[in-house]
Amino acid sequence: MSEPTPAHGPRTVVSPGKTLFGVGVSEQVGDYADRYGTRALVLASEAIYDIHGETIVENIEAAGVETAVYTDVRPDPTVANVEAAYDVWESEGCDVIVTLGGGSSIDVGKSVGILAANEGSIRGFGVDRAGYEGVPNPTPPVIAVNTTAGTGSETTRTAVLTDESTDTKFIIVSENIVPTVAVEDPTLIQSLPKSHTAFTGIDAFTHAIEAFTSVKSYSVTDGYARDAMTRIVDALPTSWANGDDIEARTEMLIGQFQAGKAFGNSSVALVHGMARPLGAQLHVPHGLANGLILPYVVEFNHVAAPGKYAEVARLLGAADADTPDRVAARRAGDAVQELCEDISLTDYLDEFGDVPTREAYLDVVPEMTQDAFDSGSPDNNPRKPTHDELEELFVRVYDDALAPDSPRRS
Ligand SMILES: [Fe+2]
Repeated sequence: MSEPTPAHGPRTVVSPGKTLFGVGVSEQVGDYADRYGTRALVLASEAIYDIHGETIVENIEAAGVETAVYTDVRPDPTVANVEAAYDVWESEGCDVIVTLGGGSSIDVGKSVGILAANEGSIRGFGVDRAGYEGVPNPTPPVIAVNTTAGTGSETTRTAVLTDESTDTKFIIVSENIVPTVAVEDPTLIQSLPKSHTAFTGIDAFTHAIEAFTSVKSYSVTDGYARDAMTRIVDALPTSWANGDDIEARTEMLIGQFQAGKAFGNSSVALVHGMARPLGAQLHVPHGLANGLILPYVVEFNHVAAPGKYAEVARLLGAADADTPDRVAARRAGDAVQELCEDISLTDYLDEFGDVPTREAYLDVVPEMTQDAFDSGSPDNNPRKPTHDELEELFVRVYDDALAPDSPRRS
């Protein structure tokens, strides 16, 4: 038999032990906590706990499982945030972790689990220090109750934390931190505000498109990515326009889960590499930074993977089956931009204060470019940017999407 092509392996594909989908499945959290432990640590931000915390805690306690609660999970959680949550785990004698929230809560939950089962500080498990698969022992059971659609963190072997001593993010990647149970109940995301529906939704779409076109794309993850994009392209504008549309919220939860499976088992690429420094400079959420960049990277990339980007254009309705691949691929960037316009993405920039002047922005472009290269994500991109090309992309984002009089803002 001939050697398998890169698109067919060999690969390891991870997934949560179980995933519960559908209206009301969060009522099963107590039963699952009871299967895995006797005292649950519930992790959430204060805002999410205020909305859903009491119901989830009552459900867990009704199943005969005691609870301890940590409600100080922050966006972009830090090492100190993880250590404070771990102190509660230890002092309360917990044996199962329940995260309530999106990526931040889930990543704190995974990290508390790492500290519970392994020696050393959490910073030491970053891939820059411990390498990939640098967590020796599996975490205790983690039940990830998702309230966004979404980061897909409930499906992945990755946790992203901030090292506050250097103000930089680091990632931990290990099969030993994949959650035990993921809970995808659309009733929990009905209360997600429009802005966060837009940010987390475009993040999920970016996961799917980057996984699909990454040089690490794989036949199995391509299937997840295609299906994710097909769902998200319709369900994101609908759920953004009407948060109570339970069907659209359900589709988004499924789509973001599939997108998580796609990127978690192949990779993200240049958009994510650029979004990290751009988001830090503008102080905007991860998903918004992705959405500002995505159309330009699609346009930049399409010549390197015309077959893949033609598929993207077709599922976005910008081309049909008879359109030649190169023609269809050329339309993908504009089609992605229209999706961002459908959810008024750039309008939300105003909520995060004034953007820097062009001059001030140009000053930090070299630093952002270096950060993007250092992230390693450009290595996964179908078209490898040169240093000058990456700087030009950052400038294009400013002139087209950030400046107050730019085309996407006026
Ligand atoms: Fe992301």
